[in-house]
Amino acid sequence: MGLIHSLNERIFHHIHNKSLVYNACWEDPRCDRQLLQLTPMSRVVVLTSAGCNALDYLLDDVAHISCVDVNPRQNALLQFKVALFEGSDYDTLFRFFGDGKFDRAREVFYDCVFPRLHDAFSRRWWEYFIDAFSGRGLRPSFYWHGSSGVAAWLIRQWLRVRPSAWKMAQALFAAKDMEEQAYYYDKLEPCFFTPLFTWALRQHAFQSMLGVPTSQQKLAAAPYSSGLVGYFVDCLRRVLRNLPLQDNYFWKLYFYGHYTSACCPNYLKSEYFSVIRQRVSRISTHTSTLSEFLKQHPGQYTHFVLLDHQDWMAREPAMGSALEEEWRLILDNAAPGAYVLMRSAARELDFLPNFIQRRVVFDIETAERVHRQDRVGTYASTWIGQIVL
Ligand SMILES: C[S@@+](CC[C@H](N)C(=O)[O-])C[C@H]1O[C@@H](n2cnc3c(N)ncnc32)[C@H](O)[C@@H]1O
Repeated sequence: MGLIHSLNERIFHHIHNKSLVYNACWEDPRCDRQLLQLTPMSRVVVLTSAGCNALDYLLDDVAHISCVDVNPRQNALLQFKVALFEGSDYDTLFRFFGDGKFDRAREVFYDCVFPRLHDAFSRRWWEYFIDAFSGRGLRPSFYWHGSSGVAAWLIRQWLRVRPSAWKMAQALFAAKDMEEQAYYYDKLEPCFFTPLFTWALRQHAFQSMLGVPTSQQKLAAAPYSSGLVGYFVDCLRRVLRNLPLQDNYFWKLYFYGHYTSACCPNYLKSEYFSVIRQRVSRISTHTSTLSEFLKQHPGQYTHFVLLDHQDWMAREPAMGSALEEEWRLILDNAAPGAYVLMRSAARELDFLPNFIQRRVVFDIETAERVHRQDRVGTYASTWIGQIVL
């Protein structure tokens, strides 16, 4: 058991330390902004992921957003987007991150992006990765690159090789109303969760490509007799069957490989381009753990957006002290009444350090209401809390 666990950890860390994992943010900023109550006084700390949501928060005119990620490739991705806002125009931004491919990608990269990247790692890494936008090869979209992009592409191929499943999936994503959507989902589900696919879904290497470490797999699987498969069946039913897909740019992205101007994150909408451009200098990127960031940049932050990363430290004895240290640093660097937003694959956050119960008041009702509208739909719970003295 110990050997398998340590092998699994190695696989996850190998993927996480060597690849871009998230090519698009996998949390719904429409829900975040309802919960966070951002204002021009807000000083936000958020884990970078693909940076889409930090750009979205700028629409609330916040004072500053510190984007922190241990994976430097995630920060390099956000720096690329910031550089396009600063140095190009809406069409160019959309060609890169809306279409996911651009025949002039290399040329525009060297003219406008390269000089604006903040550090040597980002410059070197993008020189190596820029062809992900070339639109050529087996995976002709940026969104089929990075480990989660490759995983999404594999799932899509799995659908495409079976004409009836592919036809149903196409009908599902084109459904005109909820009745039609439910009809096609019910037909698709048994063709999707076949024994071969559910076997693949349970594999640690596949979960690692999706950015789901062992600790989070355990949290997700715990309430289900069929483990992780039960978790994913529930999630997919909720989001693909029971919530409208029309404006669900998260799932449509991985079905089509690109966004459209009508169904995309706010940072890719033409009406927001100039306002985001004016405010984009309020974003800074930091490559380190959240704890290291808070030690190096102490302050009075009003919002901590932790995504689901505390699942990564849950119930791992070796990580228990890291979780405690992170919470102590959050409390020490919080402005009065600061908000903490997090998501989890667990239904209950029973892995948080005990002292959190005295210092963070969670608004369970509001979080549950907003969670039900979440277009990502792959988390079991959403939590919004305020820090009290
Ligand atoms: C937790 S993952 C989850 C992805 C997410 N649900 C999303 O919106 O795409 C988000 C990012 O957190 C980073 N991360 C994980 N643990 C971290 C830590 N302790 N400090 C800083 N970044 C961390 C990962 O590298 C990853 O890019």
